[in-house]
Amino acid sequence: MTIPTYSLNNKTQIPSLGLGVWQIEDGQPTIQAVKAAIDSGYRLIDTAAVYGNEQGVGQAIAEFDIDRSDLFITTKLWNSHQGKELTRSAFDASLHKLGLDYVDLYLIHWPTPARDKYVETWHELESIYNEGKAKAIGVSNFHQEHIEKLLANSTVAPAVNQIELHPYFQQRELVEYCRAHDIQVESWSPLGGTGSKLLSDPVINELATRYGKNAAQIIIRWHIQKGFVVIPKSSHPDRIRQNGEVFDFELTDEDMSNIDNLDQNARKGPNPDTMNVS
Ligand code: A2P
Repeated sequence: MTIPTYSLNNKTQIPSLGLGVWQIEDGQPTIQAVKAAIDSGYRLIDTAAVYGNEQGVGQAIAEFDIDRSDLFITTKLWNSHQGKELTRSAFDASLHKLGLDYVDLYLIHWPTPARDKYVETWHELESIYNEGKAKAIGVSNFHQEHIEKLLANSTVAPAVNQIELHPYFQQRELVEYCRAHDIQVESWSPLGGTGSKLLSDPVINELATRYGKNAAQIIIRWHIQKGFVVIPKSSHPDRIRQNGEVFDFELTDEDMSNIDNLDQNARKGPNPDTMNVS
């Protein structure tokens, strides 16, 4: 399976689909999941300092016989490490845990507006980028006003905004804003997250029957056809493999609209405007 890529605003290629490892325990569970993903043709692995499993991701990469340049590794700066003094050492610690000398994408995990440090943090990410230690830099969970503030005070525009995005929570205005500014949208909790009701939605399941696919594959395909980077999480090798088998069918425009109509503005995770946890 070859996963198509998108071109980021600095011409770096990002795979349209990857494995998200949030809530996968470090050590063997992470190593197994990452290996299953790479073995199934995935090239993008999405982790974060706060997930606590960068070491497992690194170990899986080291044990797998694959060129580093074929992989796309994302990690994220945790909230309490924002600011001029702490960002660089947090980045270095992530690199060390991953066993890498660069990452493909480094993100500010949350804006944490009450902290009011994301602009100075971004300047440190710009340095990391200019030194080639991150092939691209971006943000996660940023609303329009947070991105506007970055754009007004920086030289490198974010390449990516990774946000909660699934058919029940489509964030259309923010998506449009990102598109207009050449910022690639990446969907977290693309299947609706842990204990997802979306996977048993009747509309999704009717489509699954009709296309001879499962519910997760229908939802993942919807993200791909929307032009989003999609990073479904699973710790089960068989599901990881199935979640990658979405490039051999296409949803019709009408069926895309049927899924568009499921939007309930139903956020599952925290609201970035008020999320200031350390
Ligand atoms: P599991 O790890 O037990 O497979 P997200 O929207 O955050 O990517 O959430 C994915 C959730 O859906 C996880 O809890 C994951 O659990 C589950 N999941 C992932 N892939 C599938 C699948 N193909 N079928 C059913 N559940 C899935």
